[in-house]
Amino acid sequence: MEGNIFPAWTSKVRDLLPLALGGGGLYVVTLVTFGFSPETLAVGYQPEQPVAFSHRMHAGELGLDCRYCHNTVEQGAKAAIPPTQTCMNCHDKIRTDSELLQPVRDSWETGEPIRWNRVHDLPDYVFFNHSAHVTRGVGCVECHGRIDQMDVVRQEEPLSMGWCLDCHRNPEDVLRPVSEVTNMEWEADDQAALGAHLAAERGGINPPVLSCSGCHR
Ligand code: HEC
Ligand code: HEC
Ligand code: HEC
Ligand code: HEC
Ligand code: HEC
Repeated sequence: MEGNIFPAWTSKVRDLLPLALGGGGLYVVTLVTFGFSPETLAVGYQPEQPVAFSHRMHAGELGLDCRYCHNTVEQGAKAAIPPTQTCMNCHDKIRTDSELLQPVRDSWETGEPIRWNRVHDLPDYVFFNHSAHVTRGVGCVECHGRIDQMDVVRQEEPLSMGWCLDCHRNPEDVLRPVSEVTNMEWEADDQAALGAHLAAERGGINPPVLSCSGCHR
């Protein structure tokens, strides 16, 4: 089946990867069993959430910076999902009688975290690091789209290996000043000139392309 879906080179690569990485047969089984999960790697994937939290309202209309809630995105591999405390900074005063906020108040009273459903989820054999991107001037919008216009978050990009590599081959096409990484509307006047300038200023930008172990550790 997979042979029909993927171009010939991928199945060759899939056979070689365990050797290249020093793994064993188990690795191949893991790849095939979990690696092709269509549910979580599809563009447009948009699971329902336990609370009707809207990025359009909070990041768009209210203009909250992404880092107010996803506060580890610059330092860590993962972008933290905010705890209930962050919501209660406002919602212990704002809309305290709202039906829609009942699960948030319940969580606050019981100490049980809200169980948000994951939207983006790379296979475990792929290494990804937010900090490495955000601190080099890759904006959230490049990979997540206009989150500030979404009532319910959906996956905008394929997150496939080809997609990662497309950008890694020409990172100058997307580099922006680090101060603008969370700005969803920012655009360069002349991206080619700016990208080249920023790359040079940072002593070169060289994301992994041919180095498999850059992304598969
Ligand atoms: C007020 C807090 C808050 C702000 C501000 C905020 N977010 Fe979120 N974000 C959340 C919460 C809560 C979730 C989990 C629920 C959901 O998916 O809607 C989330 C989920 C996400 C997800 C999906 C995570 C997954 O499961 O894959 C992405 C991507 C994201 N936010 C990006 C952004 C970006 C980009 C910004 C700035 C434009 C932003 N967020 C601003 C609270 C916030
Ligand atoms: C900086 C303040 C602030 C933070 C932090 C915040 N909110 Fe809000 N939230 C608001 C405001 C303001 C509104 C709009 C209220 C209105 O429409 O009158 C709102 C509206 C909402 C609503 C819609 C309520 C309704 O009845 O229409 C929900 C649900 C909600 N927020 C969930 C959350 C969740 C979940 C978090 C934490 C991840 C969060 N908010 C964090 C300020 C905040
Ligand atoms: C280069 C692409 C890229 C950029 C730039 C990027 N993200 Fe992500 N984001 C991803 C990928 C890929 C995942 C899934 C990671 C995984 O499954 O391990 C993800 C997952 C997330 C999640 C879910 C939690 C997690 O870390 O898995 C949140 C929240 C999030 N991103 C927010 C942001 C915010 C906010 C920004 C900007 C400050 C941002 N992202 C910039 C690609 C990106
Ligand atoms: C929109 C452009 C873009 C996309 C999409 C993108 N990257 Fe990157 N990536 C970069 C840039 C720029 C760097 C920084 C390179 C440098 O500092 O020299 C980078 C660096 C990296 C690094 C090196 C991290 C380190 O610690 O040195 C890894 C690993 C990586 N990316 C993995 C991924 C994976 C996996 C995906 C796809 C899920 C992805 N990237 C998608 C632009 C991108
Ligand atoms: C920039 C990051 C990145 C680099 C570099 C990279 N990969 Fe991948 N690779 C990924 C991502 C992301 C996936 C997951 C794709 C998916 O699930 O759709 C993946 C999936 C795979 C898979 C399983 C899916 C398939 O298409 O068969 C194999 C095998 C693979 N990579 C081999 C390699 C080899 C060999 C190299 C070196 C030549 C390499 N990768 C370099 C990011 C990368």
